[in-house]
Amino acid sequence: MGDIPVAVDVRPAMTDTAFNATRLMPMPWAEMAPRPALRSDVLRVGVVGYGYWGPNIVRNFSAQEHSQVTMVCDRRPEALARVMKGHPDVEVAADVMEVIRSPHIDVVAVVTPVWTHYELAKAALLNGKHVFVEKPFTSNADQAEELIGLAERKGLKIMVDHTFLFTPAVRKIKHLIETRELGDIYYYDAMRVNLGLFQHDVNVIWDLAPHDFAIMDYLLPERAEAVVATGQKHVNGVEDVAFVTIYYPNKLIAHVNVNWLSPVKVRTTLVGGDKKMLIWNDLESDEKIKVYDRGVHHTRTGEGIYDLLVRYRTGDMWAPQLENAEALKLEIEHFNECIRENRRPINDGISGLRIVKMLQAADESLKHRGTQVLI
Ligand SMILES: NC(=O)c1ccc[n+]([C@@H]2O[C@H](COP(=O)([O-])OP(=O)(O)OC[C@H]3O[C@@H](n4cnc5c(N)ncnc54)[C@H](O)[C@@H]3O)[C@@H](O)[C@H]2O)c1
Repeated sequence: MGDIPVAVDVRPAMTDTAFNATRLMPMPWAEMAPRPALRSDVLRVGVVGYGYWGPNIVRNFSAQEHSQVTMVCDRRPEALARVMKGHPDVEVAADVMEVIRSPHIDVVAVVTPVWTHYELAKAALLNGKHVFVEKPFTSNADQAEELIGLAERKGLKIMVDHTFLFTPAVRKIKHLIETRELGDIYYYDAMRVNLGLFQHDVNVIWDLAPHDFAIMDYLLPERAEAVVATGQKHVNGVEDVAFVTIYYPNKLIAHVNVNWLSPVKVRTTLVGGDKKMLIWNDLESDEKIKVYDRGVHHTRTGEGIYDLLVRYRTGDMWAPQLENAEALKLEIEHFNECIRENRRPINDGISGLRIVKMLQAADESLKHRGTQVLI
């Protein structure tokens, strides 16, 4: 809170009732203890959805100097009971419209299943709120385009929670690519597999690949051109194993292997360039990234195919030092800054739309057993 004094709350209550999940009855605000006032430069955040991921969003928005969660909404009373236990100062609501219509909320964070994102984000934007929305942004590109247009007309910000863009590992790889340490990039190859968690509303591509698609969109110097996806449904009617190839201009190619039926958890990515190559193992506690000074050179010694001289370069390996920072903290700091300074987040609606287009193309390709779909 800096050196600005904190006074007792003198603002009107946010709504005239609060949801008491223990008694499941509306509770007059008069019964509640007065809450400290927020500085005028602190964004008041309403979080919708307090399931698996919601608590991380609440904790990180509240830990910031420039934002504070003031209301959490969830349909499930047990989720609200957890909020009240962990965050007794935060107002709770079972009806999402209490958050969306509140004149005392500046930002709505949508942390609910994918199929609800569009409707909730649209209602929040229509009510003049900035929107922080979970990945993937929406269920289709038309919805994403509509939300982007709406936010622009209303002068509001959208951030799509592609958390990985803010991890120290991805930032380091970005630096290595931008400074041309790896040279021209040949390929990006990611494996993101584990046993479950099964989702019922989306397949394994929509659940796990948004991470890789967003990382690729951020890191790679080209925009994806076409997608080829294959996969199979074994357990609950949606694809649980899938292999996605993404074509880029200039011979750059990417591949993502996503799987809910793997006996072990793997989070490994290879990025190969003409100068150097790296491996990123996100499950390593130290030395997550290893950069190899390795490569292959062809030299033509004559005219025929047998006149090619192949040389392998096997130089040193080094593991760059990574900063120690929580990605969500950095991401929310960036969002708050973008609102204060009227800047565009790196993971805004437009980048969220590009990821949704890749996901849609992958679904289309899956349906036809791997035909190429242009983006
Ligand atoms: N960025 C990341 O790394 C990351 C990680 C996990 C999940 N996610 C995303 O977060 C979102 C939520 O995932 P989760 O695993 O927390 O799901 P979850 O099912 O555990 O939690 C969702 C919560 O939203 C509540 N909810 C749903 N619709 C509601 C509505 N209309 N009003 C009020 N409450 C409502 C549900 O009751 C539930 O408690 C998904 O979009 C998912 O893709 C992102």
